[in-house]
Amino acid sequence: MKDDAQRTTSVWMATATTPSQQRLKENIRTDVCIVGAGIAGLTTAYLLAKEGRSVVVLDDGAIGGGMTGRTTAHLTNAFDDRYLEMEKLHGADGARLIAESHTAAIDKVEQIARDEHIDCGFERLDGFLFVPPNESIDVLNDELKASHRAGLVDVEMVERAPIETFDTGPALRFPRQAQFHPLDYLTGLTRAFTRAGGRIFTETHATNITGGADARVETSHGPAVSCDVIVVATNTPVNDRVAIHTKQAPYVTYVIGVRVPKGSITRALYWDTPDPYHYVRLQTDKENPASEILIVGGEDHKTGQENDGAERFARLEQWTRERFPQTGGVEFRWSGQVMEPVDGIAYIGANPLDEENVFIATGDSGQGMTHGTIAGMLLSDLIQDRKNPWADLYSPSRIRLRSMGEYASENLNVAGQFTDYLTAGEIESVDQLEPGDGAIMREGLSKLAVYRDDGGTVHKLSAVCPHLGCIVAWNSTEKTWDCPCHGSKFDADGRVYQGPANGDLSST
Ligand SMILES: Cc1cc2nc3c(=O)[nH]c(=O)nc-3n(C[C@H](O)[C@H](O)[C@H](O)COP(=O)(O)OP(=O)(O)OC[C@H]3O[C@@H](n4cnc5c(N)ncnc54)[C@H](O)[C@@H]3O)c2cc1C
Ligand code: FES
Repeated sequence: MKDDAQRTTSVWMATATTPSQQRLKENIRTDVCIVGAGIAGLTTAYLLAKEGRSVVVLDDGAIGGGMTGRTTAHLTNAFDDRYLEMEKLHGADGARLIAESHTAAIDKVEQIARDEHIDCGFERLDGFLFVPPNESIDVLNDELKASHRAGLVDVEMVERAPIETFDTGPALRFPRQAQFHPLDYLTGLTRAFTRAGGRIFTETHATNITGGADARVETSHGPAVSCDVIVVATNTPVNDRVAIHTKQAPYVTYVIGVRVPKGSITRALYWDTPDPYHYVRLQTDKENPASEILIVGGEDHKTGQENDGAERFARLEQWTRERFPQTGGVEFRWSGQVMEPVDGIAYIGANPLDEENVFIATGDSGQGMTHGTIAGMLLSDLIQDRKNPWADLYSPSRIRLRSMGEYASENLNVAGQFTDYLTAGEIESVDQLEPGDGAIMREGLSKLAVYRDDGGTVHKLSAVCPHLGCIVAWNSTEKTWDCPCHGSKFDADGRVYQGPANGDLSST
């Protein structure tokens, strides 16, 4: 399968075919309408359908065509932003609930895969966290204690991670983490959902999303869904203009997949501690059983604020070859976007400043496999008026005073992007563009997003993001226009494929 717009292909996209569904053709009614067929939307849909609710899922691309097709699919209760930090931000009880909910999410994926006979390679394994060479291990000692206080009492310090070719030095071992093939999982989840009576419509772009007594989701090609409850699971909410987008920041992250001899690396999840950090796992290759794919990610940067993907891939390759000399050629290079919440955990629950029957799931923080599964469990409780112990923790309306520094710094960064209106363009004439290239050009008072396609035709669009008006930037790795403010993404022709913008770049 190919996803909505980006040029690169993940190992999952190359090795899975998610079931094709039809476009919505007529007005319909349902109990719950869910926008977004990624892990958050489909898990919520599946759990509600299993409880007998009538559920419709809409997606404007293919199933799994968003970030769930571009993930690396580590399923972890080891926490990227550290339990020590979570204790400071959310208190000791909050840190315990974070550990509890992520542990429960891994268990839930395992249970669904087992109950629904989903062949997605779900596998339990250890996770190892280590520091770069010659760095202090204080961060590991602190995290060991904080993990124990959060209830993960099996976490332990070991002499080194089990990598023969590279001495990591002391490492934290997190037992009972997991991994899977995310698109094979979504395929199974889709089939189980439809078996339970659920309906999915793809190639169906949701435009107006209105809660309240006459809740409905309208689509760009006409038909609408009337419903009692709406869940917006579009990775970053397309129905929320400001409230959530000041509380999370978009980052692009890069991944390579290299072939290694089977069995030459111990199957486990590996992470180091720099910011940005590296994340490592193995994936079986059913077509070539003598080898497997080593998947290494990292090199994150704020979306739309750098355009040097080739160098980032090269650095990932160098990092990998230094530690795993048995690696063969690089077979996969891809990138994707994660939403970093200012206080480290997802926003799941009622959409702030909206009707009470509109829910969102966002702020995946690079842990969207578990956060998306938590969304399914939590939202299916909230929608059915059941109490859930995680509701306050993940509430999208929460304010954690201790995250105000991060909040201010991310929003100052956004404010800084508006100076782009005053600067010169990157090129002065379209003649400077090679085929397949894009750049920002000034024309009078306007800024244009200009792209020369592979056939040589030049396409000119307004460079103003329809969300809140920042100037987009060219992403030469993915051949997309990316907004540096809140992460909206548009294909080379200006069609939106990732929010919060919910409309295209306008033509000039
Ligand atoms: C490179 C990379 C590595 C990662 N590694 C990990 C990892 O190891 N572990 C982990 O837990 N997480 C990881 N993540 C994060 C994780 O992949 C994501 O958080 C998760 O997949 C998000 O799922 P989602 O369902 O929220 O969104 P998505 O999968 O993006 O689904 C949203 C869907 O909404 C649809 N949509 C959007 N707008 C509209 C609209 N207006 N109308 C209709 N449909 C719409 C899109 O087409 C899309 O299919 C990684 C992410 C990346 C990019
Ligand atoms: S995403 Fe908010 S201004 Fe572009």
